[in-house]
Amino acid sequence: MKIFKIKKSKIRNIDFENLDFGSVFSDHMFSCSYVDGKWNNGMIEPYKPILIDPSARSLHYGQACFEGMKAYKDKNGKTWLFRPLENYKRISKSCERLAMPVPNKEIFIEGIRKLVELDKDWVKPGLGNSLYIRPFIFADQPSINANEANQYKFMIICTPAKLYYSGKVKVKIEKSYSRAAKGGVGYAKAAGNYAAQFYPTMLARDRGFQQIIWTDSSSHEYIEEAGTMNLFFRIDDTLITPPTSDSILDGITRKSLIEIAKNSGIKVKIRPLSVKEIVNAHSSGNLKEIFGCGTAVVVLPIAGFGHEDNYYEMKEIKNSWSATLKKKLNEIQYNISKDPFNWRVEV
Ligand SMILES: Cc1ncc(COP(=O)(O)O)c(C=O)c1O
Repeated sequence: MKIFKIKKSKIRNIDFENLDFGSVFSDHMFSCSYVDGKWNNGMIEPYKPILIDPSARSLHYGQACFEGMKAYKDKNGKTWLFRPLENYKRISKSCERLAMPVPNKEIFIEGIRKLVELDKDWVKPGLGNSLYIRPFIFADQPSINANEANQYKFMIICTPAKLYYSGKVKVKIEKSYSRAAKGGVGYAKAAGNYAAQFYPTMLARDRGFQQIIWTDSSSHEYIEEAGTMNLFFRIDDTLITPPTSDSILDGITRKSLIEIAKNSGIKVKIRPLSVKEIVNAHSSGNLKEIFGCGTAVVVLPIAGFGHEDNYYEMKEIKNSWSATLKKKLNEIQYNISKDPFNWRVEV
């Protein structure tokens, strides 16, 4: 892999205390091309705009997918990735579903490692600080023929991050719009899945909600996931999360929290969960916690949810499972505790 370093880092111009998520990028980027049926080895070069033909197929037909992961710094200055192979497996599934070539595993992992190593000063120490890594693949074949392309770009860019949301998050249980349908691309991290969410989320925001809880597209009776989070519900002393399916993204944070919870003696049930059950559990006082989870948000307690014309406020509780699980996950990610699951990978 060829590496072209920047002459002078721009890091000194960055205000790391006041970051607008995803709008500042580190010094370098990785790119790799798929031409004539194979991926080349890729290269790292200074972060810069790229040239793209106006007829590039991803711009017209949405053949594009991405991943999201983070690098963390420990108190000794070492940098760590969290379960990067899971991101590789997921981008492979996304590519397959979108008729795109799967990138080579070694190139994916080495591209991330070398890029983060080069830009390691952008990974700031301290809980909550991280370098968000965005691998993405898109069709850049210049042709508006509505077929799968034969030319692609795989790139990785990095943006320093602090916590995604601050303050209380209210969610709206969606009854009209759908994020994903059976047999569709909901399980893939397809760019178009996010575009489809923006309009209903905008409407929900106008009504005072920050995010939507998506329900199944045929009956709108069963809980699926939120905008960029999987969901957990604590009813009495059981933690419940809906099973992943072809309409739910198989979140890496979700599967990690399931293992941490089980390992901590928490009863976890993976089963379908209806809106009716949630509303009833709220009325009877058995719904103790709701939280979302994902790479960007980590673990995010939900302050309340809207359904039809009603709003259901969640009571604050002491020793919440969301706080316990977040702490345990963070301690593994930041190399504060032992890593019994072997999830950390040193850069
Ligand atoms: C739709 C959706 N669901 C769930 C998640 C959580 O996945 P992960 O924990 O792998 O970040 C994400 C990504 O952040 C997402 O975009």
